[in-house]
Amino acid sequence: MTSLAGKVALVTGARRGLGRSIAEHLLGRGATVIGLARGAATIDSPDYHHRSVDIADAAAVQAAFRVIGRDFGGVDVLVNNAGVLTAQHAMILAPGAAKAMIDTNIFGTFMVSREAARLMRRRPGGRIVMIGSMAASLQPAGDSVYAATKAAVTVMANVLAKELGPMGITCNTLAVTAIESDMLDQLPRDKIDAIVAALPIPRLATRDDVTHALDFFLSPHSGYITAQTLWLGGIHQ
Ligand SMILES: NC(=O)c1ccc[n+]([C@@H]2O[C@H](COP(=O)([O-])OP(=O)(O)OC[C@H]3O[C@@H](n4cnc5c(N)ncnc54)[C@H](OP(=O)(O)O)[C@@H]3O)[C@@H](O)[C@H]2O)c1
Repeated sequence: MTSLAGKVALVTGARRGLGRSIAEHLLGRGATVIGLARGAATIDSPDYHHRSVDIADAAAVQAAFRVIGRDFGGVDVLVNNAGVLTAQHAMILAPGAAKAMIDTNIFGTFMVSREAARLMRRRPGGRIVMIGSMAASLQPAGDSVYAATKAAVTVMANVLAKELGPMGITCNTLAVTAIESDMLDQLPRDKIDAIVAALPIPRLATRDDVTHALDFFLSPHSGYITAQTLWLGGIHQ
């Protein structure tokens, strides 16, 4: 596999869960990794640089990217992983919780993509990957807003693919099945077990399942692969 030495990779939500695993994987492949999350860093590596930013705060995102542009000159890879979930039937889902999902999962992802693209166009071969979800396909009860936000990031990737393709930047979505994390722990286990049992490959995703698929999108051989959604575990739209 090609080394990512000399590349700058930005991962949102890099403090915990999947984002942390992705950041550690990219560090292992030789990249310099910038992590964005609300809280403080949890990764200790000379090649890891953390910014505590709420991605739903446009001004904070722009301020962070001014520093990133100054310190790193550009960005080669963006993994839009940060996300929040409150799974409740619509009639009891609090408006604030609904808005938080829209603000982080859609608006925050847009802001980070926008600012990263401005830095990415300075260098060849940029890669943007959205972390999508099986929820966008399975559309389970209780996920009216969450599933809609995850469908939205796929559409966002497809539109960005058109806008950024002429600059050599690809934009794709990696739609993830259930994977152990704080987010999954919020959900009733029996509900998750039932969903997983109905998947074509009836098991939880692993970190390796995700990072191997991510490597495909990041490969220098994948420069003609854009506006695609890769559904893990055999789910499909
Ligand atoms: N877990 C699953 O089963 C599953 C399945 C399908 C898709 N996904 C997707 O995978 C991604 C990662 O999920 P996860 O399970 O790893 O979640 P998680 O364990 O809850 O971690 C979420 C991460 O996102 C960060 N984050 C949330 N809101 C943010 C904001 N406004 N600004 C900056 N950072 C923010 C958190 O930062 P702090 O640590 O600072 O709070 C945290 O690092 C999400 O996009 C999720 O939708 C997960």
